[in-house]
Amino acid sequence: MKYHEVEFLTSSPKIEDCPISDLPEFVLAGRSNVGKSSLINALVNRKNAAYVGNTPGKTRFLNFFKVDNKYMLVDVPGYGFAHRSQKELVQFGEMMDGYFSNRKNLKALILIVDYRHKPTNDDVTMIDYARELHMNILVCATKKDKCKRSELAKLKKCISETLNVPLSNIIDFSSITKEGVDSLWDSIDNMLNNESNIDI
Ligand code: GTP
Ligand code: MG
Repeated sequence: MKYHEVEFLTSSPKIEDCPISDLPEFVLAGRSNVGKSSLINALVNRKNAAYVGNTPGKTRFLNFFKVDNKYMLVDVPGYGFAHRSQKELVQFGEMMDGYFSNRKNLKALILIVDYRHKPTNDDVTMIDYARELHMNILVCATKKDKCKRSELAKLKKCISETLNVPLSNIIDFSSITKEGVDSLWDSIDNMLNNESNIDI
């Protein structure tokens, strides 16, 4: 595994608070509680680089991690979290809209889905939005450790068909076993070097 130097920069509640940077940025988005922050921790090989919670809604703001002084990973709150107040929902919507529509250096969406479940309408909306913005897109199916081996092929096919993404562009992942860590780093590096422009 290649060593990556990862530095947590800041947690920003609004687009105006985001770090000024022209480094290419990769945003990790997905349903609440799907395992986005755990995936970041697995990637950077630390337990608490990003906050992980047993209850949905743990990540509240836009969290910036600088990698190798070359690019940023951004951990954002999950969508589809039912137990937010109306005011919080509005703030969440404004923060995400502000980020996606104003962040000039945003290069790619890493969409995290749960290996076990059919992606939701929110997931489809998210990926279609990224397509409209002509962002590179990568899909990571996490919590693979919770799946029965005999069901893997069927589950992955369902993810591929629902999101309209080729099977080969879906990374198998588990923050517990660390499966997928190397593939995800490689894919990020490839996108960065534009060796493969994964515009799916
Ligand atoms: P929000 O910040 O609320 O959007 O959640 P999140 O998507 O960041 O999820 P988080 O990483 O906080 O993880 C949610 C729960 O899932 C925690 O209890 C994790 O321990 C668990 N979890 C995350 N990834 C995995 C995984 O690969 N396998 C298993 N078995 N559990 C996982
Ligand atoms: Mg989180």
